[in-house]
Amino acid sequence: MSFRLVVLVSGSGTNLQALLDAASDDAYGATVVAVGADRDDIEGLARAGRAGVPTFVERVSDHPTREEWDESLAERIAGHRPDLVVSAGFMKILGPRVLAAFPVVNTHPALLPSFPGAHAVRDALAYGVRVTGCTVHLVDAGVDTGPVIAQEAVPVREGDDEESLHERIKTVERGLLVEMVGRMAREGWTTTGRTVRLGTARAAGQAAAVRRPAPAAEPAPAQDRTQGTTQGTTSGRTTK
Ligand code: GRF
Repeated sequence: MSFRLVVLVSGSGTNLQALLDAASDDAYGATVVAVGADRDDIEGLARAGRAGVPTFVERVSDHPTREEWDESLAERIAGHRPDLVVSAGFMKILGPRVLAAFPVVNTHPALLPSFPGAHAVRDALAYGVRVTGCTVHLVDAGVDTGPVIAQEAVPVREGDDEESLHERIKTVERGLLVEMVGRMAREGWTTTGRTVRLGTARAAGQAAAVRRPAPAAEPAPAQDRTQGTTQGTTSGRTTK
């Protein structure tokens, strides 16, 4: 049974496309089971449609409060029973219901903790940095503050504008996201404080084990994928 991904998008969806392409090979170990968006009529949804992947849209403006949007989004995602939610250019801050229910990975077009937020590329250029890049990280309640999984640097070139730099970052970002999500699916991961370790549990498509790590004194069965949560939680396979 393949590791199930729900991907959230708000725009062109090239990161989603990279995941769809990778997942078309069984050896990748993960399948995109649904794509969710916070708006209609975006290329990301069209890409999902062309790939035959079910989609859903939850607009904040369709709900009386942000809390109710969060609740509805969590329900829509849960309907697809994901092992992992991937925020790939999703331009909304996820709420506590979603974050409590699923592990979420985000990709960000800067080297966090530098330049968090929605205008990372513009902010990096305005600052005048010579090197920027991208970050794949777990999502927590803050804005781009969750534990880092991987980062890759991209040099800023003379004459770069926001568009040219973002395009070069996205080329690197797609590769990094695909690689990290694939490794999480195939190898499992543990989180201890702010440290994410990949390859610390053997993958077997056991979603329940992802959400409920075995106590430290009682190692998880050999076929379980385990994941510590935060604040120093230790999974059955990780020693702090
Ligand atoms: C990516 O650079 C992502 O990090 C940022 O928005 C971009 C989305 O690109 N938040 P795409 O929609 O995957 O093409």
